[in-house]
Amino acid sequence: MMVKDKVAIVTGAGRGIGRAIALLMAEHGAKVVVCDYGVSVNGSEPSSGPAEAVVKEIKEKGGEAIAIADDVSNFEAGRRIVQAALDTFGRLDCLVQVAGILRERMIFNMAEDEWDDVIRVHLKGHFNLMKFATGIMRQQGSGSIITFTSVAGLEGSPGQPNYCAAKAGIVGLTCSTALAMSKYNVTVNCIAPSAITRMTGRLAGPAAQAMTDAGEPEDIAPLVVFLCSEQARHVTGQVYTAEGYKIAIWSHPREIRTVSNHERWTPERIAEIFENQLGQDELSRFKRLDIPLPGRATSEFGN
Ligand SMILES: NC(=O)c1ccc[n+]([C@@H]2O[C@H](COP(=O)([O-])OP(=O)(O)OC[C@H]3O[C@@H](n4cnc5c(N)ncnc54)[C@H](O)[C@@H]3O)[C@@H](O)[C@H]2O)c1
Repeated sequence: MMVKDKVAIVTGAGRGIGRAIALLMAEHGAKVVVCDYGVSVNGSEPSSGPAEAVVKEIKEKGGEAIAIADDVSNFEAGRRIVQAALDTFGRLDCLVQVAGILRERMIFNMAEDEWDDVIRVHLKGHFNLMKFATGIMRQQGSGSIITFTSVAGLEGSPGQPNYCAAKAGIVGLTCSTALAMSKYNVTVNCIAPSAITRMTGRLAGPAAQAMTDAGEPEDIAPLVVFLCSEQARHVTGQVYTAEGYKIAIWSHPREIRTVSNHERWTPERIAEIFENQLGQDELSRFKRLDIPLPGRATSEFGN
């Protein structure tokens, strides 16, 4: 029982990875607020069914849980969900944010609502809950927050500009909140999962190619339980991947080469030193997805 009597909110807990996390948290003794808006992969047709079904499963196994079919992308829902944890269980120890949707489109074809909806559910959704949860955890002097990014947010994915931007934003939010909350004994860590769920089962092209080693949603849950436990009290500001039976830690972006000039740079001077002293750090997915890099310019107009 690694999280016995801890109170945990798990968003997106009605299906897929979130459901597996809610079940394992409960198995390890947590009281779980199962939050899921019950929507389709593109965010439409809400239903309270998935959240209620997971609560039923937890209770049948002797655990404690309540269902909230609320929309994490709504600011006031953040307040309501955190308040429900306090009203029912009296405190809040863990916030695990798994809720998410996809609206794939190439950048030049993307509609404004496809951009806004994905940013709203993932990035603003994380803020909406973390704003209220951190207030409570600061008063308590303890807490564990797990955010969910994607390798697509860390490495890019050509047909998912909205999703990549939201998921990269979540990494920045994780780092900021880890720094802000450390002195209150609150840890904030991020997971980039890979598992076959209804979200990934329908992918095609490069996004599907990136999923070849994916395992099951149940493979992600043990890392979450560990990060929410007292054994991980000192772990914060990290990004981990869980994929099948593999767990990996990601490095933080760091300067890899620097060049300094004795006066302000000119574009001409940058062009002179660029290839030998600064250069590029190629995105790994160019090779992995077999995407050709742009060729060198043959005239001063680049064609
Ligand atoms: N499955 C993977 O391989 C993979 C890879 C990278 C990242 N992720 C991320 O992991 C998370 C879970 O993905 P999954 O594959 O389990 O997806 P899923 O579609 O199986 O489950 C997502 C759940 O989130 C809920 N949800 C969606 N919008 C919501 C909202 N506004 N408010 C509350 N609940 C909402 C849905 O109803 C659904 O039950 C997502 O953030 C996803 O981006 C998954």
